[in-house]
Amino acid sequence: MERFANKNVFLTGAASGIGKATARRLANEGAKLIIADVNQKLLEETSKELKDSILETYTLDISNLSDVAKIFEEIKSKFKSLQALVNVAGILRFDHSRDVEPKDWQKILDVNLTGTFFMCRYALPLIIESNGSIVNVSSSAALGSHAWTAAYSASKGGISAFSKTLAVEYGVQGVNVNCVCPASIETNMSTQTPLPSNIDKRLLKKIMPVDGVNRTPEDIASAIVFLASEDAVHINGIDLRVDGGLLT
Ligand SMILES: NC(=O)c1ccc[n+]([C@@H]2O[C@H](COP(=O)([O-])OP(=O)(O)OC[C@H]3O[C@@H](n4cnc5c(N)ncnc54)[C@H](O)[C@@H]3O)[C@@H](O)[C@H]2O)c1
Repeated sequence: MERFANKNVFLTGAASGIGKATARRLANEGAKLIIADVNQKLLEETSKELKDSILETYTLDISNLSDVAKIFEEIKSKFKSLQALVNVAGILRFDHSRDVEPKDWQKILDVNLTGTFFMCRYALPLIIESNGSIVNVSSSAALGSHAWTAAYSASKGGISAFSKTLAVEYGVQGVNVNCVCPASIETNMSTQTPLPSNIDKRLLKKIMPVDGVNRTPEDIASAIVFLASEDAVHINGIDLRVDGGLLT
């Protein structure tokens, strides 16, 4: 399938996990990619692997407003058009809600929610021009109850709500904006984020896969790429749960 032939796609979080799997899938489907991530070393590996499909590679902290603005100025003058924006970059911490440090709360909101807003804000003029699409990676934590994720859940809930505003406001101009809400995917984030100490183990089932099996980043990439493609042209403003039925 070449659903992205002649299409430029900007993807964040491309250095690892779901973002890297999405980069591979988009490249396989013919996209020309602008990839970004804060992790320069791992991003370079993605860039090298997919070199025939890469237009540009940016080491970028999406919560840095002036860097985001500068990059979109450059994209506009260099590549002229952008057909899709995919925001995968994000961070997670587990804490007992009563112990969340305000600085950690702020950091998670800054990266996940405000960073996604900055990306959408500066991409929108180009996306509107091409009747393109935006896919934001939210989480099952935005929709259901997860323990120890107060800041993360708030940030992802914000992404889902913010995305619906964009969907309504720019849907009439031919743009679609949707969220993918994953759960239980084996990545650095899910395997390397420590749980808080002294947890009530009954709450673990709220974040565990229903069948005990973690799925792969590719299982999310397929949903992201579908929503970014013309196949999803009549889908706008949804939270697509890709969670193996966790919240069912
Ligand atoms: N793994 C899961 O089960 C799961 C579940 C729900 C949602 N998600 C979401 O999926 C997305 C991808 O996560 P993943 O599981 O692949 O984890 P991951 O840690 O492998 O990937 C996250 C990527 O985001 C990048 N990143 C972090 N902060 C950044 C910043 N400020 N600017 C730019 N890039 C930044 C990281 O360097 C990393 O490459 C995240 O938004 C996450 O919240 C994952």
